[in-house]
Amino acid sequence: MKILHASFECYPLAKVGGLADVVGSLPKFQNEISATSKVIMPYYNNDFFKNRSKTVDLYTGTIKIDKLSYEYSIKELKSNEINFDVLIVYIEDLLDRDNVYGYGDEVIQYIAFQLSILNWLVNENIDFDIIHCHDHHTSLIPFFVKYCYEFQKLKNIHTVLTIHNAQYQGIFPHNRIDLLPEFNQENIGILDWYNSINPLATGIKCASRVTTVSSTYLEELKEKANGLEGLLRSEEGKCKGILNGIDTSVWNPYTDVMIIKNYKISNVISGKKANKQKLCNTYAFDKDLPLFGFIGRLVGEKAADLLPKAIEQALDENRINILILGSGHKEIEDQLIELKEKYKGRFSAYIGYDEKLSRLIYAGVDFLLMPSRVEPCGLNQMYALRYGTIPIVRRTGGLKDTVIDIGDGGFGICHDQASVWDICYSIKRAITFYNDKKFFRSIQKRIMKIDNSWNTSAKKYIEVYKSIQ
Ligand code: ADP
Ligand code: GLC
Repeated sequence: MKILHASFECYPLAKVGGLADVVGSLPKFQNEISATSKVIMPYYNNDFFKNRSKTVDLYTGTIKIDKLSYEYSIKELKSNEINFDVLIVYIEDLLDRDNVYGYGDEVIQYIAFQLSILNWLVNENIDFDIIHCHDHHTSLIPFFVKYCYEFQKLKNIHTVLTIHNAQYQGIFPHNRIDLLPEFNQENIGILDWYNSINPLATGIKCASRVTTVSSTYLEELKEKANGLEGLLRSEEGKCKGILNGIDTSVWNPYTDVMIIKNYKISNVISGKKANKQKLCNTYAFDKDLPLFGFIGRLVGEKAADLLPKAIEQALDENRINILILGSGHKEIEDQLIELKEKYKGRFSAYIGYDEKLSRLIYAGVDFLLMPSRVEPCGLNQMYALRYGTIPIVRRTGGLKDTVIDIGDGGFGICHDQASVWDICYSIKRAITFYNDKKFFRSIQKRIMKIDNSWNTSAKKYIEVYKSIQ
């Protein structure tokens, strides 16, 4: 079975969040079972493409978007950092940007990427059984292959759409319909959702199968999905929640070159201690106090707006240290920077993206905070577990599916509301837990054994593909 994953992110080539981690690991595990999976993604003007890889040209073609022609090329990536095939779509001045997202012409970027893939498949007679689309950036592909005249040769190809995050739907107004290639106008209604063109809704309607990145998230989406709840309910027969896995060879405290001391279950206590010591030296924290971390986008979905208040309250009431790594809303960033001054030696924040620091945090903190309002799957909690760090999570989406509270015989700390009170209460519970050294250490060892690898989930995707054939 030949699968083509179409995505805007793929680790380590270009990463903004968990989408990259999933697309950068799932194909590897599918290739170990009964599939040949490749990834196709845009070329970016970043360090990986410029300095850590080479590309070989495979094909050059032209696509048209609203009377403008764009020349694109399909390239094959050559890199010893990747162990599955990656194809690249290069379009000068459109896709060769420094960053993955954040450009005014993103609607054209997404359409151009999708059209280039399909144009190439048609012109070169390339045969895949499934195009697996990830998020709204690629979710018009199922519509294009079904209804656009120029792609009729592909109309028997099956499509799977994975929703990593339904908050973002790629919506644009009807007056930009000319951006799309010619299609059978009888199907114009399929593009519409609440009087706009909605690529994610279109993908849900047209894909052969739709998956979400955890089972609980699928159930939640049927109730609340930024306007898509009714659609997900009516399409539920073809929807399935499949929990993400993690790449346990990339995320392994025993081999991770980005941390100070490597460790496995047998020496987790001394291993974590050395990594914590490094963080405490860097931020002038007291190494004997419990250390709490947060890694992620500073946005409402992650409940990052609650962090400044929660941090203040938790630091005023308890003897603890807190470290934040992330970037996002300027207002939250500014509040965190202010708190850094106020609580020097007890709190610090690094505003930005830093993979090395993130690994050190997973390895060095005692607890990882994830109070998310919405968390389709969440990978951080699984990385934390792998590194012997206790997750403190709100019971939502994938967090609910992967973390069991210590009070229920589990290994994490869970709360129900995204509120300052819940975060602070959970921190107090964590401190009590931390002080019960014997129990705490036994849980650190226990969580490192939890299997969140792709072994089960990669097979579930293959079952989904097979169910379409
Ligand atoms: P999301 O994709 O919603 O941001 P996930 O939990 O699925 O959330 O994945 C987040 C991924 O991004 C993890 O690999 C996490 O370690 C990483 N990450 C998030 N913020 C940062 C940051 N500021 N620096 C380094 N890595 C980060
Ligand atoms: C999205 C979600 C996150 C999930 C990731 C990978 O970014 O916000 O919860 O883990 O995709 O599927």
